[in-house]
Amino acid sequence: MAEYDWRPEQAEKSLIRILPEVEKTFADKLGQEPHEWHKFKNRLHSEWERLFIYLHQLYGWQYDFFHTLQRILNTLVQCWLERPAELKLLDEKREADPYWFLSEKVVGGVLYVDLFSDNLAKLDDHIPYFKKLGLNYLHLMPLFAVPKGDNDGGYAVSDYRAINPDIGTMEELFKLTAALRDQGISLVLDFVFNHTSDEHIWAQKAKSGDPDFMAYYYTFASRELPDQFQKYLRDIFPTIKKGSFTWCQEMKRWVWTTFNSFQWDLNYTNPNVFCAMAEEMLFLANQGVEVLRLDAVAFIWKRLGTNCENQPEAHTIIRAFNAVAKIVAPCLLFKSEAIVHPDEVIRYIHPDECQLSYNPLLMALLWEALATRETKLLEYSMRNRYPTPAGCTWVNFIRCHDDIGWTFDDQDARNVGIDPVGHRKFLNKFYTGDYPGSFAKGVPFQFNADTGDVRISGTFSSLAGLEDAILKQDGELIEQAVRRINLLRSIMVSIGGIPLLYIGDEWGMLNDYTYLTDPTIVNDSRWVHRSKKRWNAREDLNDQDTLEWRFFHEMVELFNLRKKLPALQNGGMEVIHTGNPHLFGYIRAFNEQKILIINNFSEAPQKMDAVHLNACGVKGDVINLMNNDVLSSGKDLVLNGHQSVWLDIS
Ligand code: GLC
Repeated sequence: MAEYDWRPEQAEKSLIRILPEVEKTFADKLGQEPHEWHKFKNRLHSEWERLFIYLHQLYGWQYDFFHTLQRILNTLVQCWLERPAELKLLDEKREADPYWFLSEKVVGGVLYVDLFSDNLAKLDDHIPYFKKLGLNYLHLMPLFAVPKGDNDGGYAVSDYRAINPDIGTMEELFKLTAALRDQGISLVLDFVFNHTSDEHIWAQKAKSGDPDFMAYYYTFASRELPDQFQKYLRDIFPTIKKGSFTWCQEMKRWVWTTFNSFQWDLNYTNPNVFCAMAEEMLFLANQGVEVLRLDAVAFIWKRLGTNCENQPEAHTIIRAFNAVAKIVAPCLLFKSEAIVHPDEVIRYIHPDECQLSYNPLLMALLWEALATRETKLLEYSMRNRYPTPAGCTWVNFIRCHDDIGWTFDDQDARNVGIDPVGHRKFLNKFYTGDYPGSFAKGVPFQFNADTGDVRISGTFSSLAGLEDAILKQDGELIEQAVRRINLLRSIMVSIGGIPLLYIGDEWGMLNDYTYLTDPTIVNDSRWVHRSKKRWNAREDLNDQDTLEWRFFHEMVELFNLRKKLPALQNGGMEVIHTGNPHLFGYIRAFNEQKILIINNFSEAPQKMDAVHLNACGVKGDVINLMNNDVLSSGKDLVLNGHQSVWLDIS
């Protein structure tokens, strides 16, 4: 007989006990919006059970669990009351169309406000530029108050409710969000919830010896436990810091710092941390943020004897945040940033967890195939690893603010005859330009002398050969680089999920080596692709003779084409057999529309023969939507070097 699950009943009981108290506390305000309050309560009733179960799993063993429930319910109601009316309207709109983000119309961009427009106030002026590009999902890189000097590009947050004064104010962000929303652009921000900076008020109180706030972090009086933990941990920034613990002189204790020594890991075994971060999260939601990028999800729970990554409780915590969001701000979506083994990446993707996830495997393997000119690992991995749960999707990117790590599965590589260790070495050599014939100008990131591991920094264009070609002033090499860029773009835009453009890549931004002269960031080569350089012609798009103009327009055209093709909305992506080791092909389909997309990773022309085409459903004459060429019935398809064709086989 199945064991009786007492939790649903207790969840209900707890709500019956706590809700009347909360209603009393907020009686005045609740009376003003009876209709809205009713809707809130419906959501509360439908989500409370799972929230209770998650919180019970995490904190049920603590004697004051009931207090945690009281606190969280208070927070939910208070934050909901603070939620602006226009955002409540947006909630309703999104609830009526909850899968809006799966649409082929959705196209994303990501930028650093200070690098792009100096500050938030000036960003407003660039909304027409975003519109021209066709973006409707805009991720602003971390813009919160941070320590001066090195702050890990904004990922060491000192106050989630204050904007870095160099960038602007919370009021400006709120205004900008509304302006973006008016133009149909959803704002995406980071939720840096694994750690705070050591200047956050919580860390300051901890430093001053306040035990309540010391309990917000993992602190240790001696090396005994840190040493035991350390045996299994990997160094994330080995050139900057060895080990995951930092000595804090004020506290005279060791603090857990997975990333930099000034980024203190939050202790989620403490329910107060969960409640406090839920408040910060809802505060951000109430500024109009529609998607939160959950930073460093893999690291939020620690367990002795493990590498302290991807622990089951990490999922439970995110699900609990998800339930909190569903109750107060149902339009809010989560995007997971799990740059870990692909088996683990997929586990964060679920309607009850993160509806969106970066797709680091696709990103890495596109670069892999570009270097090898062969698609077997890409094809094999995508065939087996692409599907996401219904109602969820990938965010596909070619470059972002971080480095490239070769996160493919070793066994996948062996299955296609590749030695994973040797292959990673080859890729690192190739992308740092240290391999004969390499076109790439990447920069090594975080070389680990103990393991030999290294990752790659560099912009899309520099890694794809444009920098090298321009240095050599070689027209043909430039064209080749342009073709490589267009090939990867074509896949990012068509393969299934939201394409995310790293702003600057729309005009072909090259590496910027000025970081080497800035002592605060000289050791972090990721700044080579976080450039202050701007395309002067950005607002003057008429100078058609430039490469920048060409890149920009080709990007816009590709986005526009995507938006016209319902087959490109989320849905099945079926990897096909091309019969040619240099080609990578897949079918995208929705209702009646079916598109066969074939990509050539080699510089040389490549053929997909009629038999393979036929097996993919190519019957009669078909049109290549990229250039309107017709492929006649029964003919082989010949692709030029690095060409991508989108055949309408509906
Ligand atoms: C994420 C960010 C990265 C940062 C790290 C620590 O991985 O993308 O830039 O260094 O988290 O916050």
